[in-house]
Amino acid sequence: MNRIDLNGRRAIITGGAKGLGAGIAKRLMISGARVSIWDIGTADLAATAKDLSAHGDVDMRVVDVSDEGQVEAATEEAVAAMGGLDILVNNAGIGGPNKQITEISLAEWRQVYDVNATGTFLCCRAAVPHLERNGYGRIVNISSANAKEGNPKTIPYSAAKSAVMTMTKSLAKELASSNILVNCVAPATITTDFLQSRSQEHLETVKARIPIGRFAEVGEAAAMVAWLCSEELSYSTGAAFDLSGGRLIY
Ligand SMILES: NC(=O)c1ccc[n+]([C@@H]2O[C@H](COP(=O)([O-])OP(=O)(O)OC[C@H]3O[C@@H](n4cnc5c(N)ncnc54)[C@H](O)[C@@H]3O)[C@@H](O)[C@H]2O)c1
Repeated sequence: MNRIDLNGRRAIITGGAKGLGAGIAKRLMISGARVSIWDIGTADLAATAKDLSAHGDVDMRVVDVSDEGQVEAATEEAVAAMGGLDILVNNAGIGGPNKQITEISLAEWRQVYDVNATGTFLCCRAAVPHLERNGYGRIVNISSANAKEGNPKTIPYSAAKSAVMTMTKSLAKELASSNILVNCVAPATITTDFLQSRSQEHLETVKARIPIGRFAEVGEAAAMVAWLCSEELSYSTGAAFDLSGGRLIY
């Protein structure tokens, strides 16, 4: 494993209790960062924080990223606990319904949009003043290949992840002269519990379109995110980094 230098950096990772978020937290800690992991899944959160503590101090917070008050309070508390903030990884997300448009309720649409898109907005808004105070920062948003391509029976998710992608581009332009770089990744399929929200039929269709011929492992995705969180990334902002095994062609 290449060692990415994140010594002294302080990072918030949303949805850090399991899956990709837990993998990112581990990779950032191994690289020298302090982390604050946020999640609604309290049992997973405590278990992951315990595992991660083998690599250093872990700040752990129960936060629903779609709740404005919770995000504002948790940001201030995490910044105080870590002594500052350099990195935000907006990873919390839900897949939502695998249904055609006529079967999707407004409540389902709103829930998927609130967690994926509004959550990213709220966390960025709360973190940016701290990053501006540093004169340094890295924000990585987890979007999806769906944001570029769309996929049948995933309309709320595709739309929300497109919002994450364009939010990334707009925020990057706002902050480009402040040494705060904002990028997103567009994964196709990563082997996590997230796949349980997708039908077997859907997963087979998706896999058939991946030239590498398999889904990504968490560590492969976390490696890209760790580099995007580092100072070594210095001349890309507002970009959507492909993580699709060759599936995305633009
Ligand atoms: N796994 C994939 O194939 C895949 C593909 C493309 C994009 N993604 C994205 O990657 C990110 C991580 O997904 P994963 O595969 O690790 O899924 P996962 O379901 O294993 O983990 C997601 C985590 O987010 C947390 N979460 C959900 N709602 C939350 C909320 N309101 N506030 C705080 N935390 C919340 C969950 O409790 C869970 O711990 C998501 O944004 C997902 O959309 C995943």
